Amino acid sequence: MTERSSCGDDSMKASAGLAQGRVALVTGAAKRLGAAIATHLHGQGYRVVVHYRHSEADALRLCQSLNRCRNDSAAAFGADLLELEALGRLIDRAANRWGRLDALVNNASTFYPTPMGGVTGRQWDELLGSNLRAPFFLIQQAIPWLRAAEGSVVNMVDVHADRPLPEHAAYGIAKAGLVALTKALARELAPKVRVNAVAPGAILWPERDADPARRAEILSRIPLARPGEPSDIARAVVYLLDQAPYVTGQVITVDGGRSLFG
Ligand SMILES: NC(=O)c1ccc[n+]([C@@H]2O[C@H](COP(=O)([O-])OP(=O)(O)OC[C@H]3O[C@@H](n4cnc5c(N)ncnc54)[C@H](OP(=O)(O)O)[C@@H]3O)[C@@H](O)[C@H]2O)c1
Repeated sequence: MTERSSCGDDSMKASAGLAQGRVALVTGAAKRLGAAIATHLHGQGYRVVVHYRHSEADALRLCQSLNRCRNDSAAAFGADLLELEALGRLIDRAANRWGRLDALVNNASTFYPTPMGGVTGRQWDELLGSNLRAPFFLIQQAIPWLRAAEGSVVNMVDVHADRPLPEHAAYGIAKAGLVALTKALARELAPKVRVNAVAPGAILWPERDADPARRAEILSRIPLARPGEPSDIARAVVYLLDQAPYVTGQVITVDGGRSLFG
């Protein structure tokens, strides 16, 4: 598990009842940013559904740790989000676990380069499927639950949705589509359900991208002079879910000012 447990200061907020009884589903939440978001929401009093695909052991460890802090407050469900039928099942299982769904965080993502000339249909389906199609159909399935709870959705997009990352066209197209989805569904699902997005900059390096020169070059273009912390992202998600009742259809960029460089 990469994230600390929510016991501590956060559990005081939870016992103060900030989001007590509310339920959040975070996709791709076994590790990295998803785990940070799930842990932070749990610390605000949410019951959390930790979705995973391959990282079952990490997901179970995270849930164990959260349940140790607050009994019966976290559950893990597996699903491959490329399978359309699995999306409906995931929402049904998540919402039926505690009989409600207040928040859906579409965090799961596949990310790798697709230099033009050799892109396969399978790569396109994988990148568009995880980053765009899955959020769309998860939201569609969740509408009755979210309406009943007057809940909200946060989609994890990317600063590269509108500033293309070289040789990542398929990923960038998927995230740009997710921004369009955020705006379209914010309009369509209002007034009961809000839909927003968070666009992280450099927070956690991709597991396969270890080039120190490239990392140094990226860091040199961040005005706040550091990579972001997972908690920087988690706090933005909590803001949109819980503290922004008059905000919908918006993308909050959390990138230390990097996008100011164009
Ligand atoms: N990390 C950053 O600095 C950064 C920067 C910009 C944007 N973002 C965005 O922020 C979000 C989180 O970033 P991250 O780096 O923490 O994500 P990540 O580690 O690349 O992926 C998160 C999880 O997504 C799950 N996933 C991928 N494909 C799936 C599929 N077909 N079905 C089900 N689950 C699938 C994986 O779960 P399993 O491990 O269980 O298989 C994976 O652990 C992503 O949407 C990403 O695009 C991140």
